This record gives sequence, C-alpha cells and structure tokens, in this order.
Amino acid sequence: MTLDISIVPSAHPRSAAEVAEILANPGFGIHFTDHMFTVEWTPEKGWHDARITAYGPLTLDPATAVLHYAQEIFEGMKAYRHDDGSVWTFRPEENAQRMVRSSHRLALPVLEADDFVQAVDALVTVDERWVAEPGTEKSLYIRPFMIASEAFLGVRPAQHVTFMVIASPAGAYFKGGIKPLTLWLTEEYTRAGRGGMGAAKTGGNYASSLVAQQEAIDQGCDQVVFLDAAEGRYVEELGGMNMYFVYADGHIVTPETGTILEGITRSAIIDLAEKSGHQVEERKISIDEWRDGVSSGEITEVFACGTAAVVTPVGTLKWAGGEVGGSTEAGALTMQIRQSLVDIQYGRADDTFGWMHKVL
Ligand code: PLP
Ligand code: COI
Repeated sequence: MTLDISIVPSAHPRSAAEVAEILANPGFGIHFTDHMFTVEWTPEKGWHDARITAYGPLTLDPATAVLHYAQEIFEGMKAYRHDDGSVWTFRPEENAQRMVRSSHRLALPVLEADDFVQAVDALVTVDERWVAEPGTEKSLYIRPFMIASEAFLGVRPAQHVTFMVIASPAGAYFKGGIKPLTLWLTEEYTRAGRGGMGAAKTGGNYASSLVAQQEAIDQGCDQVVFLDAAEGRYVEELGGMNMYFVYADGHIVTPETGTILEGITRSAIIDLAEKSGHQVEERKISIDEWRDGVSSGEITEVFACGTAAVVTPVGTLKWAGGEVGGSTEAGALTMQIRQSLVDIQYGRADDTFGWMHKVL
C-alpha cells in the first residue's frame, strides 16, 4: 500500500435508475463506471500523482508514443459480489505479476504488485454500486492498462508512462450464453513467434489477431485458433482464450506455455481438475492429434477459458476444406469445471485454494 491516492468524485455520477438499467443487461465492454484510476511514471519521480477521478476521455498529444509504437500492456480481471453483499476479486496478485512480466517485455516500468492491487481495490471501492447483485453470474470486468504517454517520435522506451484502471459491468462474453463455439483454424496467420510477445498481454497481439478473427467470422465461426509460428503444427490458443482437451480416459491436456498467454483461468483449471482426480498434461498438442482425436472419439470434450469467457465449450473445428466435431451440447467435465470455478468466484463454494481477495 504505497500509493497515495487522491479521490475527486465525479460531479455527474449516473443515477441509481441508470445504473440499474445498465446492470440489467450489461453486455460486455460497452458501459463504464463513473470513475477511473490514473497514476503517472517518470524516471525522476517514479510512480506519482495517483488519483481517482470522473471517467472521461483522455487528452493526448498526437505524438504520444503509444499511438505510434504500441508500447502498451493490459490486464483483464473481474470483481464478484457474494450473497452477503461483499465484493471480491479473483487472484489479483496473479494479474499484477503477469503485468510485471509484460512490462519487462515491453520495456515499461514495473508497477509493484501491491500497488496494482491497491489501485484496483480503490477503484472497485469507489464504484462498488456497479458490481451486480449475486445470483446472475454478472460481474464487474476490470481493465488495468499501462501506456507510453511521452510525446516523442524517437523509437526508445518512453520516459513518461501512465497506468490506468477502468471498469465495465459484464454479462456473458458470448451472446447467446453457454453454447458450444465453432472455431476457425487459421493456417495463414500466427500470433507469436519465438522471442516475440506471445506471452505478454499487449495490444499488438490483439491487433495482429483481428484479421484472422475476421476471417473466422466470414467463415461463419465464432473464434480463431492459432497454431505455432515455427512449424504451423501445434495448437496455441484463441485470440482471447486458452484451450483444453478432455480425453476418453479422463485425463486432460492444455498447450504448454512459452508463446501463449499464461492464463490465470488456465492455471486455476489445472488445480481444479487435479483436485477432482483428473490428470493434467501441459504439453504440445498437434492439430492432427486434435482432428484425429475428435474423429476417433479419443478426445471427448474441447473447451476454451479466460476471464471474459470463463469456461466455454467448443463444438466444432473448421478449416479450409473440412471440419470435425459438430457437438451442440456442452461436455459434462467442461460444465463441471465451469461450475466449480464460478462457485468459488461467487462465494458459493469454499475457497480451498485461497484464490479470492476481499475488496470490501
Ligand atoms: N489468451 C489470451 C490471448 C487472452 O487474451 C486471455 C484473456 O485474458 C487468455 C488467454 C486467458 O487469460 P486469463 O484466464 O488470465 O483471463
Ligand atoms: C480477458 O479475458 O480478460 C481478455 O482479455 C479477453 C479479451 C476481452 C481481450
């Protein structure tokens, strides 16, 4: 707790009726709370001028480095309300530490994990009324991000950096609730190469995924699957989710880390699955193993996971010239893992792993 945060409440907060109307049907990433958190960094002063102010547009010099060279990192996490009215986040230190790893890759300054958590807690506390009532699986999606805010066109790490936190009430990420996704295999585009930024949560990775994601939509699919850049053979992840494969003998496989985002949901699922007696392998899985396994029945369920999407079943894999799967029902283990996870997040099950962090 080292940040000295000043709070200037919004002069025009949304009315209780407006908040209620938004929370009734929040969608994803459309509406924002009344406030935002900001702190600045320079080499001379370190992190300074921490403040919570009214949510609103930023004024940026057109030469601001992030607009040109994409020196930027972000996080995604959620706050959940429990039945007793308390508000909790899920493994916030993991997000904080992942942001530290991302900051090393993007040559951005380190914001200490304690300060990250303090900033998130402070914003959630001020905008507490935006965390939906329990029982609905709604939550408050929290988006911390760090940008190169120095106005300078030379290519070098920025000497003025800004870290902010904004928050947005969230319902289901996919319209239509939990129904199996159809994935599109891109054989043209890759997401991350050796020595690249694949493990960092940085805007450039998402920018580079958009053309492939658009191709998926054009093919009538929901999301795109990326393969490794070196051989075009091994499954990596989706544009915003990690992947899991369930085998007929009960063991499950998830692609190993290295060039993929080290998902916090992914890591929680390893613990949940192992606790319920399923062996988990983190290893390379080839696209042929996926296709053949689904065709032969050796792979019985496929699912994707992430903060925004939670745990989402995958029904069909399509590629240029073929498809496998076709299941329209979510798999039993997929739904069991999903339920165990959300029960912990919403305080309906014991937090045996110590994942939940009480905000207020
Ligand atoms: N992979 C990518 C590319 C993502 O954007 C995300 C979402 O944050 C994930 C995986 C899942 O990570 P997490 O479970 O930490 O949300
Ligand atoms: C998340 O799950 O938090 C993500 O960041 C995925 C997407 C919204 C970018």
